[in-house]
This record gives sequence, C-alpha cells and structure tokens, in this order.
Amino acid sequence: MKFTGSSQYVATQDLMLAVNAAITLQRPLLVKGEPGTGKTMLAEEVAAALGMPLMQWHIKSTTKAQQGLYEYDAVSRLRDSQLNDAESAAKVRDIRNYIVQGTLWQAFTADQPVALLIDEIDKADIEFPNDLLREIDRMEFYVYETRELVRAKHRPLVFITSNNEKELPDAFLRRCFFHYIKFPEADTMRQIVEVHFPGLKKELLAAAMKNFYDVRNLPGLKKKPSTSELLDWLKLLVAEDISAEALHSADQKVAIPPLVGALLKNEQDLTLFEKLVFMQSRNR
Ligand SMILES: Nc1ncnc2c1ncn2[C@@H]1O[C@H](COP(=O)(O)OP(=O)(O)OP(=O)(O)O)[C@@H](O)[C@H]1O
Ligand SMILES: [Mg+2]
Repeated sequence: MKFTGSSQYVATQDLMLAVNAAITLQRPLLVKGEPGTGKTMLAEEVAAALGMPLMQWHIKSTTKAQQGLYEYDAVSRLRDSQLNDAESAAKVRDIRNYIVQGTLWQAFTADQPVALLIDEIDKADIEFPNDLLREIDRMEFYVYETRELVRAKHRPLVFITSNNEKELPDAFLRRCFFHYIKFPEADTMRQIVEVHFPGLKKELLAAAMKNFYDVRNLPGLKKKPSTSELLDWLKLLVAEDISAEALHSADQKVAIPPLVGALLKNEQDLTLFEKLVFMQSRNR
C-alpha cells in the first residue's frame, strides 16, 4: 500500500512521504494546516487512491468521544417498554437493540480495511483526544451494556485533522505521525489550479496569482486567503469573463482586485488593503 498522489489532488513529495510513513507505522496521520489547504480532501483522496471506503467523523464542540464508539438509546427503550405488544416486549428484553454503533465501531467491524477520518479534532473539548487514546492505540473498546469487547478486524487507516484552535495533549501526539501542510508555493499552486481549471489562460492565471500573493503577503491581515479562496475567485473571474488586463495596475503596483470579497473576508482586512493601495497611489 503506497500513496502516490491522485489526478484530483496535488500532493507534494513531503506530504506523500508523511502518508506512507503513517501507513508503515500503522499510526494515525495528524494533519494540520491553514483552513482550505486540503486536509479533509487528503483523506478522501488517499482512501480513493488505495481503494478503501472512507468513514468520516466530523467533530463539533459538543461531540463526545463515546459517540464515536456507541450510544445507548434509553429513550427508545423506555418508549417501547410502554407499548403493549409482544414484539416490543421481546425487543425491549434485548438491550443490544438499543445500542447505536458509532463511526469507530463501524470502522473496526467493517469487512475490508477502511480509512477513517476524524475531522477537526480541535473543535471538541480538551478531554476528547485523551478519551480516545486506548481506542486508537489498541483498536478495541468495551461495551459495558452488553459486556462485549469490540476489536478491530483490520486496523483502519486513520486521518486526524486540526485547525490548531486547541493544543492537543502530549500523550495523544505520541501516538500519531504529524504533518503540517505548508501553504503551497506558487509552483504547487499553479498545479492545483490546473487540476481545477484545466486550460485556464496563462495571462489570467499569472495576473490572478500575482494579485492573490500580493493580498496574502500583506502584513497584519486577520484572515489570509487560502487555496480554496483562490479557486473560488478564479471561478468568478472566469464566469464574469474578466480579462487579465483588468487585474493589472498600470505601474505594477498593488491594486484592489475585482470581486475581492472572494479573497478578503472581513472589513478590517479590506480597510488595510485599501489604505495600502491609497498610499502607493500617492507615492507615484
Ligand atoms: N492539494 C490540493 N489539490 C487539489 N485541490 C486542493 C488542494 N488543496 C486544496 N484544494 C481545494 O481546496 C478545497 C478545500 O480543501 P479542504 O476542504 O480539504 O480544506 P481543509 O484544509 O480541510 O479546510 P478546513 O480546515 O477549513 O476544513 C478543496 O475542495 C479543493 O478544491
Ligand atoms: Mg476540513
């Protein structure tokens, strides 16, 4: 099993190395990086490239580790117990009918090896990663209600993504292989754009990339635009049939690009950018 990139996803050499290292070590791959740098998509693409089904667990601030294992549906059981037919009575007697399997359980008991994505682990509370240590290490857990041990038939290939909103505990980090997706350099970015817009006019791409990196490199931005925002913006430029010339300022200085709302997402950044453009125009 080796990941060598895919036609939909541009993977740099070090990213491929990281994926393969995680496969070899049989440890989860912890992927960090700015929003929109392809963390979630990486799991989808690796799974597809290796021919594995992908099970996804999207973490929210209210998600508990237990929900990934199983949940006991006590409410349904109580309701069924109040019905007066024989069928419900038989159902109520077996507690297994009210155990709802979580994503981890499904991944553990799948008939073929699967990939498992635990997306945005930093959204959950601080205890969440610690609560999953044993499950991730030993690939097993105990169901107290039915006194059964669920053990992975095949070790799933685990991807864990984080946007760095919270620090992860050391004990958890020890069990992972770590990779930080650096913001793509111009060359890689051009390849990514090519995947999404094959045959885009060279002049338009060059002008758009210059504008994009000018905006991104502005010191003091609150939210830097990322890969997915560049792709959105290009889509708009193509849809609105905006020419490369419209993106150039006459003297190669920074100008406010059209449809800038695709790139800058708050008023402070917009003001900062406008100020810079204004100062440059006065220095002419
Ligand atoms: N290396 C890449 N190759 C091809 N497309 C990419 C790449 N990186 C990012 N993209 C594009 O950017 C979009 C956003 O990627 P994705 O949703 O995986 O980002 P993310 O890192 O998970 O962001 P977030 O942290 O906000 O969840 C993708 O749908 C894809 O179109
Ligand atoms: Mg994501």
